Amino acid sequence: MSALFTEFNGVAFKNPVICASGTFNFGEEFKRFFPLSRLGGISLKGLTLEKREGNDSPRIAEVYGGIINSVGLQNPGLEGFLKDYLPSLAQEDTVLIANIAGNTVEEYCEMAQRLSQTDISIIELNISCPNVKKGGLAFGVEPKGIESIVFAVKKHCKKPLMVKLTPNVAAISDNALAAEAGGADSISLINTIRAMAIDAKTRRPVLACITGGLSGRAVKPIALRMVYECYKAVKIPIIGLGGIFNAEDAVEFMLAGATAVQIGTANMINPMAAVEVIDGLERFCYDNNIKNIKEIVGGLII
Ligand code: FUM
Repeated sequence: MSALFTEFNGVAFKNPVICASGTFNFGEEFKRFFPLSRLGGISLKGLTLEKREGNDSPRIAEVYGGIINSVGLQNPGLEGFLKDYLPSLAQEDTVLIANIAGNTVEEYCEMAQRLSQTDISIIELNISCPNVKKGGLAFGVEPKGIESIVFAVKKHCKKPLMVKLTPNVAAISDNALAAEAGGADSISLINTIRAMAIDAKTRRPVLACITGGLSGRAVKPIALRMVYECYKAVKIPIIGLGGIFNAEDAVEFMLAGATAVQIGTANMINPMAAVEVIDGLERFCYDNNIKNIKEIVGGLII
């Protein structure tokens, strides 16, 4: 068996490398670079019940060490996704994760229910998008709110439920515990960090929405710290993300407690990033005589 084979929430992954929601769309654009079957999984672009055009442009700002986005959950809506994207995605030999966002708890529940009847393997509850007026962060900041939305959605969700946490909070481990108490099967973290960019020449904000979410290399130490804190707090699997660009970064997240990792902003700079992480992890196992990558999860030496 491959040294990278892993399993969590009853789902088998050929490797622990998943492309992160919002950085990989529905995979189509990456097929000319590599077969999607190389990936452990794909967390698909965040879906809402109705189609969304997203926020006004400019909605991406390049900054030192990363990007700030205020995309605003542009997506084809649940119906559009089921009709135009899922049939071909379902032919791919990789784990499909649907990332869902709603304006109301009822919308989250409806999406979870409908996606539970499809080829999607895991549902990722996005209660951490900083770029929408309704929903998003509104559900994801207070532990009580997290527990209650997870509890509500879980009743309608027949697939494993992964809850994506925001780092824009005082104590991430309290929120991880709340997700676990609500019935989450796993958590993913971190989503982006609220940020802004200003153009000194024009004296204007770079983004039309003024603020957005920072991702990329700059956030990695923060994400690592948060994964580490959550690992000490909860028993459910943790999927780590935030500035992972190579296999060494992935190993660091796994040592901090991540069972698997997601590759996000790196995909936008190097479309082969996820495959390079997979190849690097294979080499890492071979060089260090590791029979299975799971051996290193939480293996940080203090
Ligand atoms: O604005 C966006 O589409 C970002 C979504 C997210 O951060 O979850």
